[in-house]
Amino acid sequence: MKLFAKLFRANSSQFLTTASSKQFSLSTKLLLSSLIITLIALVGTSLLLTKLLGQYYLHDKQASLIYEGKQASKQFVSYLTGQTDLATLQELIKDKEHLQNLQIFINGDDSSQNKLDPFRHPVSNEFTPSELARVYRGEIVTKTITGANVHNPVMSVAMPLTVNGNLEGVLSIHAPLYDLMHSLPQIYRLIWLTALLVMIMATGLTYWVSLKLSRPLRQLNSAALEIAGGNLDRRVAILSNDELGQLGAAFNYMAHHLQEVEQSRQEFIANISHELRSPLTSLRGFLQAVLDDAVPKTNREHYLNVAFEETNRLTRLVNDLLDCATLQSASFSLNLSEMNLNELVRRVVAKMEPQIVGKELDVQIALTSPDPIINADWDRMQQVLVNLLDNAIAFSTEGGKLSLSTAREGDVVKVSVADTGIGIPAEELTKIWDRFHKVDKSRNRTRCGTGLGLSIAKRLVEAHGGTITVDSTLGKGTTFSFYLPA
Ligand SMILES: Nc1ncnc2c1ncn2[C@@H]1O[C@H](COP(=O)(O)OP(=O)(O)OP(=O)(O)O)[C@@H](O)[C@H]1O
Ligand SMILES: [Mg+2]
Repeated sequence: MKLFAKLFRANSSQFLTTASSKQFSLSTKLLLSSLIITLIALVGTSLLLTKLLGQYYLHDKQASLIYEGKQASKQFVSYLTGQTDLATLQELIKDKEHLQNLQIFINGDDSSQNKLDPFRHPVSNEFTPSELARVYRGEIVTKTITGANVHNPVMSVAMPLTVNGNLEGVLSIHAPLYDLMHSLPQIYRLIWLTALLVMIMATGLTYWVSLKLSRPLRQLNSAALEIAGGNLDRRVAILSNDELGQLGAAFNYMAHHLQEVEQSRQEFIANISHELRSPLTSLRGFLQAVLDDAVPKTNREHYLNVAFEETNRLTRLVNDLLDCATLQSASFSLNLSEMNLNELVRRVVAKMEPQIVGKELDVQIALTSPDPIINADWDRMQQVLVNLLDNAIAFSTEGGKLSLSTAREGDVVKVSVADTGIGIPAEELTKIWDRFHKVDKSRNRTRCGTGLGLSIAKRLVEAHGGTITVDSTLGKGTTFSFYLPA
């Protein structure tokens, strides 16, 4: 951890400059992008709205002008055909002229006497000759004069006045587009004002959201730096239930795990030192006594034997520690080959014969037939079985029973080692796999294990893709079984 912290600090200046060389913070980026999006959206809709409104207004105006024109031309037709007299028509038209500028001009010879003379006006110059020609052919022509530098925009509609298929004249109506000058600009102003307001509100809201988003991130950042600096107690507050909250929870979990790793590392070192110290102390004591001639000649051999035993224990301990280290490292690999599990059981029992006989244990072996052949590392499998059998013997009472068996269960092979020894308390069953864990040392004074055997066995079985289980009743006995893929 310390090393990591040092490495991190060495890199952190570089790391921090990379971070700060980015010009915008997360919240600024969020703010800017949301501003741009709302700006585009609002300006777009406002432009579209104003354009559509204008078009709609003109369209509506045109339709009503054409309608008025048609109504008027009906009156004219009934006047021309003698159904209405001049006075009535003039009365009717006056009303309209009040609102809209109604004009009639006559096709053809201006001088000729005509019933339409009272309504005659000079030919309108609003319509070009070609447009008039279209009217003479029977079309209705609309003309709108608008634009930025037109002070009085106006819409004109010209339509033919025909009686029984004869063109009697041209009827034209003009209407000033007051609204285009007055009401519409007000509506436009309202639209743009609303857009501005929405924009201000959206900016405020985004600012608030971006602050809410970036605050926990900044906290995570500072917490990560603190943890890297060695303060493993640091946690972040989880304020929300969203992805950021989950990130915070994951971060806290990681910090917790780092703390556990650090703790187990320290415990491991403390345990090793402790395990090494006791054999070294007793060895030193014996050797000192022998050197000082403090040991009577007759006892000397006994002392030397004890010293020899201690060196054996030290060697075993160092080997186990080495195994622990290699099993954890990435370079650990198995030496796989086809092997016969029944054969392994027979050879391990033969190898441990002296200890079994020494405790007067009764051994029963039940092997499955045909021999189970699996792909495994012989030496490592032997180590597993030796560790289990070694425990079974050590924790058996004299005259007890040992049962070893192999069996096929579906596509796995099961190997069991059972004893009728002292058993393991239920609350210890999950802990016995931990390195250096020994159940209450006073249970077996003659034994001086280090508590590594089971953790090594478990790792080895798992490296083979198998599992290992324990079943025990205190005072009755214990059964260890491991399952390997066949
Ligand atoms: N068959 C068993 N019967 C009763 N207790 C057992 C048995 N096997 C293991 N234990 C308990 O589990 C503990 C851990 O076993 P493990 O083999 O890991 O360590 P150890 O035997 O004490 O030392 P080592 O195997 O490293 O010499 C033992 O100390 C013992 O208390
Ligand atoms: Mg053991």
